[in-house]
Amino acid sequence: MARILTGIQSTGTPHLGNILGAIVPAIELSKQANNESLFFIADLHSFTNIRDSKKLRENTYATAAAWIAFGFDTKKNIFYRQSDVTQVCELAWYLNCFAPFQRLQLAHSFKDKSDRISEINTGLFTYPVLMAADILLYDAEIVPVGKDQLQHLEITRDIASRFNHKYPNSFILPESKVDEKVMIVPGTDGNKMSKSYNNCIDIFVDDKQLRKQIMKIQTDSISISEPKNPETCNVFKLFNLLSNSEQSNDMKKKYLAGGIGYGDAKQELFELICNNFYSQRRKFVDLMNNKEIIDIELQRGADKAKNIANHVLKRVRENIGY
Ligand code: TRP
Repeated sequence: MARILTGIQSTGTPHLGNILGAIVPAIELSKQANNESLFFIADLHSFTNIRDSKKLRENTYATAAAWIAFGFDTKKNIFYRQSDVTQVCELAWYLNCFAPFQRLQLAHSFKDKSDRISEINTGLFTYPVLMAADILLYDAEIVPVGKDQLQHLEITRDIASRFNHKYPNSFILPESKVDEKVMIVPGTDGNKMSKSYNNCIDIFVDDKQLRKQIMKIQTDSISISEPKNPETCNVFKLFNLLSNSEQSNDMKKKYLAGGIGYGDAKQELFELICNNFYSQRRKFVDLMNNKEIIDIELQRGADKAKNIANHVLKRVRENIGY
């Protein structure tokens, strides 16, 4: 049995790119009977840049609701808010005292962020140390991450092995797991769907807003009667990702034959999204209207997480000499 752990950024309501690229594959992985998954909402990391308490709280709820709506099994697994398990802050301190300053200074994500923003706080600098604490606090063995997080995993392993060298058997060294076939979902402008490009399709809004977003997808200006190239069309690319092979072949034929306008293709994409995600969209709205259900789920997760955390912390404290 492997213990899998990953942190989920809570930057707002997850969009279609997050859902197809991260949520659905992670849930699939967690379903394997012999895995135990710890998934948490990284709301302490969010505090490096979010200063609006309402937004911070809402983002956590929306992220949690999306995972639950997509069927993440919170009973089999451990699903919690990072900030509910304050033990992580204690461990982060111990790790801070082992984290090489220069190594953090050279981390890409810190350099990228500090180039872009004017006020650089120390939390942003020690972000990778808190991340190491997230992982080491639970004896995690496998950490599924995107390529952009690989360096953070190396830093985690580096800190853990330095610590183990001085205080043997303190931590398990985690392995990263990068899914090479991760789905890249195009946004409405054809670039990778991302909040920072403002090109997202948000499936958890009402039908009217959803349709409006889909109608914004950029296309060329080939007229209705002319044949169109499905390979280069953003509407088709999204349709193809979401449809079964029969639906996708039908649509391809219509493109190649001509006679279908982009407005019609967008309408079909809209209907496909409504059908595919019917139950998830309802469940999401239901949860957001009954946040106490989300609280109960996260509380259960926090209780289970604290159990493991206390056990590991006890070992580490004893090793240090406390
Ligand atoms: N930094 C990760 C990201 O930006 C989120 C994260 C926080 C995380 N703690 C973690 C991921 C621990 C894996 C393990 O996506």
